[in-house]
Amino acid sequence: MKYSRVLGTGSHLPSRVVTNADLEAIVDTNATWIRERTGIEQRHLVSEGETCCDLAEAAARKALEAAGIQASDLDLILVATTTPDQFFPSTACLLQQRLDVHGCPAFDLQAVCAGFVYAMDVADKFIRTGAAKHALVVGAETISRLLDWTDRGTCVLFGDGAGAVVLGAAEEPGIISTHLHADGAYKDLLQVPGGHGNGRPEAAFMEMKGNEVFRIAVTTLGRIVDETLEANNLSKSDIDWLIPHQANIRIIQATARKLDLPMERVVVTVAEHGNTSSASIPLAFDQAVRDGRIQRGQTLLMEAFGGGFTWGSVLIRY
Ligand code: ACO
Repeated sequence: MKYSRVLGTGSHLPSRVVTNADLEAIVDTNATWIRERTGIEQRHLVSEGETCCDLAEAAARKALEAAGIQASDLDLILVATTTPDQFFPSTACLLQQRLDVHGCPAFDLQAVCAGFVYAMDVADKFIRTGAAKHALVVGAETISRLLDWTDRGTCVLFGDGAGAVVLGAAEEPGIISTHLHADGAYKDLLQVPGGHGNGRPEAAFMEMKGNEVFRIAVTTLGRIVDETLEANNLSKSDIDWLIPHQANIRIIQATARKLDLPMERVVVTVAEHGNTSSASIPLAFDQAVRDGRIQRGQTLLMEAFGGGFTWGSVLIRY
């Protein structure tokens, strides 16, 4: 078995829905600005006591069911998250315990909004080298807990949720290629500056220079699309579906234009979910699989850009 392929997908959103109009009551914003500048209409937010691992578990159970395997068949558990329940154990270890799995490697991977594509790359490499046969890859976030709810430049943009994929070893791809990048030089444009490690635990809220991030995201995602197509000797018309990270509809439209893809061929969830960071791609993927848009045999391009900066893509024959 030389490759990995997607056996099943799952996702979960918290039940509490917060609309743009609801936000007008808590911060100086207006619903029309949010919709026109971002495409976001609403987001799902966790309630008190609801954790990242709760979301991850619900998504993981659906993905296992769709894959037709038992949790005990897993030999790798990866959770991409920026909002773990605790410093340690990792959310992946907490999830492993909930799934009653024992012994296989389980770890979190933190690449903010690019976390899911990073985790898919790592899981694919475990499977290609024979180190794993069945990998659970989850993107799960309670990003609302990192937000300063008085900062209208960030708090209106994000939502909570989780998506999951079960990968299995296969003779044919599956995951055709993955492309990862990072550049820490851009730290000041998008960060949560505080942490116990730098003695500033009180500064644990997101800061973003939104319009600078926007400009760099558009050009960088254009480059990652080119890189992915060139590496595989593909043309734009070979892509059946674009499954982008869902930060802003204008960023998504720019990438679709770059690919000459009509928006009907782009999976868009940003209106309902907002930006759910590492959960946004697997949430969108699962939605389009379950409603029948994405079919077996089609070619899917996932791409993401986020804090770090980190960015990357995953090309899949579904
Ligand atoms: N409601 C009303 N007005 C607002 C709001 C708001 N929520 N937020 C900003 N404004 C105002 C600003 O104050 C500014 O007013 P001014 O002209 O009087 O100063 C005006 O709107 C324009 O502000 P900009 O920041 O220039 O607006 P822009 O069109 O760039 O949109 C946005 C802002 C939506 C944040 C956009 O820049 C964006 O999407 N950036 C990229 C975000 C992203 O992709 N992040 C990476 C992934 S996230 C991660 O990794 C955690």
